[in-house]
Amino acid sequence: MSNFNYPNFPITRLRRLRKNFALRDMFRETHLTKNDFIYPLFVAEGENFKREIGSMPNIFQLSIDNILRECEELLSLGIYAVLLFGIPDFKDETGSSGYISHGIVQKATKAIKESFPEMLVVTDVCLCEYTSHGHCGVIENEYVQNDATLALLAKQALSHAESGADIVAPSDMMDGRIGAIRKILDENGFHETPIMAYSAKFASAFYGPFREAAESAPKFGDRKSYQMDFANGNEAIREIVLDIQEGADIVMVKPALAYLDIIRRAKENFDLPIAAYNVSGEYSMVKAAAEKGWIDGERVMMESLTAMKRAGTDVIITYFAKEAAKLL
Ligand code: PBG
Repeated sequence: MSNFNYPNFPITRLRRLRKNFALRDMFRETHLTKNDFIYPLFVAEGENFKREIGSMPNIFQLSIDNILRECEELLSLGIYAVLLFGIPDFKDETGSSGYISHGIVQKATKAIKESFPEMLVVTDVCLCEYTSHGHCGVIENEYVQNDATLALLAKQALSHAESGADIVAPSDMMDGRIGAIRKILDENGFHETPIMAYSAKFASAFYGPFREAAESAPKFGDRKSYQMDFANGNEAIREIVLDIQEGADIVMVKPALAYLDIIRRAKENFDLPIAAYNVSGEYSMVKAAAEKGWIDGERVMMESLTAMKRAGTDVIITYFAKEAAKLL
């Protein structure tokens, strides 16, 4: 770092390096690249099914045949990583449709890896899309039970790995889940399957549109007894430390834009890859304001994504991936 013993104005003029495009381009500190992006996909049962999410323009629930078309387009744009969320055809108390071998994410993973082996398939591991009550764990006495949930999460992660997932990404925020998942993967020969841990995941109003997309809104209460309070920074660091100790390969901060300080602290404290989830509400806000003509959506998108990278993230999970890739 510089010692700040610089000469003052008029010897120093910072505008000298901003004078024209070539100068600005040469001295730009942060560069977005297509391989920063992971594109979320919502996969549903059926054939030739494509339903737009009302609150997320241009984002769809897709059946597997359409998921494959989407993958083809992504690869042609230079994006080779997707994050799969499942919309199952049945839900129950324990989310069993999440860990059956013919589950929707399992089938989609197999299909993608078969048609596009070069596509990196990351799978979201959680119960909320598969439980009748919409919570991320099993319920007893109206309370999400931590330890009973671990075995179910581990089972789901294992079945994703067995289907060919390249990375599993637990998003539930139960204590001890990374350890439980690492253990079951290792015991079953998947010692080389990385875990991308949603480590610092906050109880956020920015997830609103996603719950429509994934049909995963909780039927009662909220997620505040497992996801973090948005006021807390030190606790986020503790969450990350624990996940690393339990075997996380990549740690995530979520949401992104209102949590750039957490991304920065993670980058400064840890030397493993950091991911940030640019979540549904962050996407929809930009889309809505741009639709009204109140902001320039493309510029706000590029500015936001670049800011996430400048803050220190290595990977950005974003619904903007395709649009941004077209501009890069
Ligand atoms: C599931 C999950 C959620 C998101 C990712 N995984 C929703 C939630 O926790 O309620 C949110 C993603 C987004 O808003 O784009 N636990």
